[in-house]
Amino acid sequence: MSNAIFNHKSIRKYKPDTISDEILNKILKAASRASTTGNMQVYSIVVTTDPKIKEHLWESHFKQDMVKQAPVVLTFCADFNRFNKWCELNNATPGYDNFLSFYTASIDALLAAQNACIEAEDNGLGICYLGTTTYMAEKIAGILDLPKNVVPVTTVVMGYPDENPGLTDRLPLEAIVHYDKYQDYSDEKIKELYFEKDNSELTKQLLKENNKESLAQVFTDNRYTKKDNVFFSKSLLDFIEKQGFMNNEE
Ligand SMILES: Cc1cc2nc3c(=O)[nH]c(=O)nc-3n(C[C@H](O)[C@H](O)[C@H](O)COP(=O)(O)O)c2cc1C
Repeated sequence: MSNAIFNHKSIRKYKPDTISDEILNKILKAASRASTTGNMQVYSIVVTTDPKIKEHLWESHFKQDMVKQAPVVLTFCADFNRFNKWCELNNATPGYDNFLSFYTASIDALLAAQNACIEAEDNGLGICYLGTTTYMAEKIAGILDLPKNVVPVTTVVMGYPDENPGLTDRLPLEAIVHYDKYQDYSDEKIKELYFEKDNSELTKQLLKENNKESLAQVFTDNRYTKKDNVFFSKSLLDFIEKQGFMNNEE
């Protein structure tokens, strides 16, 4: 298992080979063994293999080709629809139409997603998460017929790799780990912790391509801009409300 974790690399090119039902079921079973809040299991996984539906998803995922290429697309959803129905059938009044419940269900969905990814990689498959789910949640929900109380949280494409990229860099452990209490970072410490990243060959290449003076600017000005973040925050919040998760009344 730990081999899969330490050799993880996102795969963005896939062979057309399908994933056998046996392996896919093992992956889904692994997802279902993740911890969930109070064992409520307030998430669902939509498994998409139909090329027509994948084509619609591809449009919503900013036309990232791996959505069409990979044989399986898994959409992990925060889901109180099923749990609420169970409550109502059992003379119990659900109080899950609020943001906390959305957040809870999202955590369940993400833990299940990561379990699925590890199991997939352990079976020789490649995976890639798609952050475009959070940008295009309403469109994706429409394509997948998600009812009220269900919000897509993340998507994972998986299949047999048709590329073998190197491991990507990580910040040193001391950057992300705090013992006993949080130790805030001095400017000097930030420079030290990001030194390798800021000065790598890949970064030099990116700066040239993007005509920027720092890697941080590639993030703030090109990849994840304030303008986009504000726009997509609004549409995501609107959709979470539409799906019934923003009631603040008792
Ligand atoms: C929530 C999330 C969303 C992501 N979205 C995308 C995406 O839309 N497209 C893509 O090519 N990679 C995406 N990735 C993959 C990251 O770019 C990748 O994990 C990161 O660069 C580290 O590389 P590695 O996974 O190969 O170690 C996403 C990863 C996560 C966790």
